[in-house]
Amino acid sequence: MRIMEDKLNIFGFAGSLRKNSFNKAILRAASETLPEGVQLEIFDLEGIPPFNQDFEHTPPEKVRQFKERIRAADAILIATPEYNYSIPGVLKNAIDWASRPSGDNAFEDKPVAIMSASGSMLGGARAQYHLRQTFVWLNMRALNRPEVIVNYADKKIDKDGKVTDEETRRKIKELLVALINWTRRLKNK
Ligand SMILES: Cc1cc2nc3c(=O)[nH]c(=O)nc-3n(C[C@H](O)[C@H](O)[C@H](O)COP(=O)(O)O)c2cc1C
Repeated sequence: MRIMEDKLNIFGFAGSLRKNSFNKAILRAASETLPEGVQLEIFDLEGIPPFNQDFEHTPPEKVRQFKERIRAADAILIATPEYNYSIPGVLKNAIDWASRPSGDNAFEDKPVAIMSASGSMLGGARAQYHLRQTFVWLNMRALNRPEVIVNYADKKIDKDGKVTDEETRRKIKELLVALINWTRRLKNK
């Protein structure tokens, strides 16, 4: 996708490779609620191999694309599941690639917001805080509020991957607006 220069460009990815992923669904819902002058590019982490530091200076093509898209973005939006009280390996792996080699961290100074979705009662909240810890060393500008934690996701997202719960759609929109304002404030854009 070509990025229009004058638009505010948000780059989104989900920490799940699953076809019917709830987290991919909430990212799609975000793309359905964009204000004028803002675009959201969604990237699939499928195909990013396990990180190997031997290749950090010569990363695979998919990683090169990932880093290029992050660099082109004004802000980052991550939707993640919680795996075993933390973030999934696929997400951490992709972040590790994009943060290397030393001095070439693609996430440097980027505004970022998080959402999480899970069938459980806590909706992936614990993973959000582990992800925030990673942002500290990445030197990202994390948005604090609102927190979008989609619990009981199986009741709020239908089998076609549509977010049917109005309150969830409203919260996602609220997060987007806050991320846009935060990004403009940081970039004077
Ligand atoms: C390996 C694994 C560990 C999981 N651990 C947690 C967990 O700690 N907390 C939680 O709320 N859900 C947990 N789940 C359930 C996931 O949140 C649920 O499968 C969710 O739908 C995954 O996100 P996705 O739909 O975007 O793929 C786990 C699932 C897997 C596969």
